Amino acid sequence: MKNIFWSLTLVIFWSCSPDAPNVIAPHIVPEPQQMEVKSRQHFVLNGHPSIHSGADNAKMAITFLHDFMADRGWENQEVSKGAAEIHFVQTQGLTEEAYTLEINAKGITIGASSPSGFFYGVQSFIQLLPVGKDVAVLPYLSISDAPRFSWRGLHLDVGRHFFPVEFVKKYIDLMALYKLNTFHWHLTEDQGWRIEIKQYPKLTEVGSQRKETILEKNFSPYKGDGKPYGGFYTQEEIKEVVAYAAARSITIVPEIEMPGHSLAALAAYPDLGCGTGTYEVGTRWGVYEDIFCPKEETFTFLENVLTEVMELFPGQYIHIGGDEAPKKVWKESSIAQQVIQREGLKDEFELQSYFIKRIEKFLNANGRKLIGWDEILEGGLAPDAAVMSWRGEAGGIEAAEAKHFVVMSPNSDLYFDHYQADPEQEPLAIGGFSPLEQVYAYEPTPSELAQEYHQYVMGAQANVWTEYMKTEDQVEYMAYPRVLALSEAVWSPKSKRNWDSFQAKLAWQYQLLEERKVNFRRTTFPQTKKAIVK
Ligand code: ACM
Repeated sequence: MKNIFWSLTLVIFWSCSPDAPNVIAPHIVPEPQQMEVKSRQHFVLNGHPSIHSGADNAKMAITFLHDFMADRGWENQEVSKGAAEIHFVQTQGLTEEAYTLEINAKGITIGASSPSGFFYGVQSFIQLLPVGKDVAVLPYLSISDAPRFSWRGLHLDVGRHFFPVEFVKKYIDLMALYKLNTFHWHLTEDQGWRIEIKQYPKLTEVGSQRKETILEKNFSPYKGDGKPYGGFYTQEEIKEVVAYAAARSITIVPEIEMPGHSLAALAAYPDLGCGTGTYEVGTRWGVYEDIFCPKEETFTFLENVLTEVMELFPGQYIHIGGDEAPKKVWKESSIAQQVIQREGLKDEFELQSYFIKRIEKFLNANGRKLIGWDEILEGGLAPDAAVMSWRGEAGGIEAAEAKHFVVMSPNSDLYFDHYQADPEQEPLAIGGFSPLEQVYAYEPTPSELAQEYHQYVMGAQANVWTEYMKTEDQVEYMAYPRVLALSEAVWSPKSKRNWDSFQAKLAWQYQLLEERKVNFRRTTFPQTKKAIVK
């Protein structure tokens, strides 16, 4: 009898322990602010759960959860009352995006005060579910979570290579899984204009097509692949993507590059340049000298383009580029020089500042805010502009000290076009070296920035420039798993970030990525720290 008692106790203890083989220890990324695995008990969720909502603003989260479960073959239903396994509860006192997640004898309870809070509660919950299983054995736990930063960004360059709507949606889905909330869609480039603008049809008829693409790094002598390349999004497609992102708590920040990186627009409308000839959509990577000419015709064009852009993208910020605009053409142009004289400007850098300030005035008059790369500091920052600091952090620091909002996106750490391991073993990339561990260690508020200015750092963002990413697989390979490291850098409290624990969570996370058919890079540990720049 005594023996049976002990055997039974042991069996119960074993099956209830979070360490037991069928009970899932939480491996959530990004690491929540607070998480307590409460006891050695567990709740069993079967493959046909019922959901009860006690909160009107949980609709977005419930719709997402319903679709997610249906996709994995879990029949689920919303019940108005009675027993349910999953509960959504309106919870006062939580900030925007914050949530609580409790698992106990009552089941799963998600609390929040906003649609995005409920949505993030669901994202944490679905990360607990084992891949390919009909039953989830979940440990009792209690999570109280909120993001550290409000701008948790990921960018995609669709100018150098174009990626169709279905892929962009998948990119957005993955962002949502890791609680990123800002998708920076880089829509115009020297090598391709990718957004339909009704008033200027040639932008896509001409500007979205290039006659060929440079072969690997054959700059000198130049060698092209001889294959025409093109693509663009219709406005209907853009609306579809914007709505898709909104249903995942993601705001899209569109980027319309000016005054540089505008060769495709000049090819479509040569009168917008300072020259007298024609232009051709770019076929090689790098910086082109031909840029928008600062004449009235150009401002009218840009205001008309931005008007259509603002109709499509409801978010607060419009990104106007501002980077890498060589001044040679303006130096030599009598039109540009006349503007410098007329406006009493010192030089071409002040002319760029004048250009950006005019655009800012227009955006502000339409209730929007301007954000640009850190070159917009040169010649004087527009009064209310936000700065995206890419040439290191200096621009971000300068802007924050001047009480402008900033997003940190330094190419030293957060450029996901950089190599993530020894280039000898990796597919061709642009250069640089930003391995997973370095991304993980990234701290968005620089130590040189005084505490009083930290409030101006909205967050951080990683950029995915696609010169050397021709395929969807290659984009995913470069972005994942580095996005997971980024997500902890922008969401989790600094005190909760721990490289060893993060690595321990990756095996679980890789199953989630495999389930979603993501072509992520399989990391091996420990990583080499060899800094290689090609
Ligand atoms: C940039 O990488 N040119 C912003």
